[in-house]
Amino acid sequence: MSGGFGGASAMGRRRFLVVSTTAVGLTLPVPRSASAASPGTAPASGATTSTVGLTVNGERRSAVVDNRTSLLDLLREHLGLPGTKKGCDQGACGACTVLVDDRRVNSCLTLAVMHDGARVTTIEGLSRGDRLHPLQQAFIDHDGLQCGYCTPGQIVSGVACIAEGHTRSREEIREWMSGNLCRCGAYTNIVTAIEQTAKDV
Ligand code: FES
Ligand code: FES
Repeated sequence: MSGGFGGASAMGRRRFLVVSTTAVGLTLPVPRSASAASPGTAPASGATTSTVGLTVNGERRSAVVDNRTSLLDLLREHLGLPGTKKGCDQGACGACTVLVDDRRVNSCLTLAVMHDGARVTTIEGLSRGDRLHPLQQAFIDHDGLQCGYCTPGQIVSGVACIAEGHTRSREEIREWMSGNLCRCGAYTNIVTAIEQTAKDV
């Protein structure tokens, strides 16, 4: 696999993972168990499924899932949103990046039941009808992709990178995008797309 956006990538990935994991909190909200008798009642002992309700791309969605289901699988397999990609499925590549309450999260690395009530944005939620998000357009304009597999995660992460203000230099963009790997090595053009979009917005 490619070495990433730059020399600081290893530290950057670690920082990204810390942000990703702390973003979901250290305490587990009690999931609404499918077998719970009433709201506020703890899940019955041995319950293996829960109802998870989320606002995804502005739309209220819910599904009954196995408690072990990742947020990524909830999105892809239960809610019909395959734009978010599964790469390593272990928190190392960033292909599965989504925004949870506006913060970047590796959706393969977190359980769906931990996000009951959250607001999730996926790649499908960035465009407005036929009008692409400016960063989506910039990826096209600056050839920020080759095979395209990492691209949804790169773009979602790039949107957050811009919103966070981590775009004061190409080096800073590399650092804060280092949690997203690209096997095709399109890093230079990805940075250009983010840099240009940050200047335009
Ligand atoms: Fe989630 Fe690779 S698929 S980090
Ligand atoms: Fe192919 Fe990034 S992995 S464009």
